[in-house]
Amino acid sequence: MEDVINDIYTVCHCNEVTYKDIIDAIKNGACDLESLMDATNAGTACGLCKSIQDDPAEKRAIHLDELLEKAKLEGLCNEE
Ligand code: FES
Repeated sequence: MEDVINDIYTVCHCNEVTYKDIIDAIKNGACDLESLMDATNAGTACGLCKSIQDDPAEKRAIHLDELLEKAKLEGLCNEE
């Protein structure tokens, strides 16, 4: 079954961090992986949710690095 990614989708299972939590943190300036992990605790336990490289079995449908990429494309990060 395909995972549905919406606001309540749990991106990080270890720390129960949702898609909305991640997007909110990005909007508040957590525009790199380290700041995002600090702000939300996502990715700070098993690490599977950090990136596809950390999750070879693709247990998570989306990863923090992909969300950061998407957010940048959508202009959520103001980079100089
Ligand atoms: S799923 Fe995010 S740290 Fe384990």
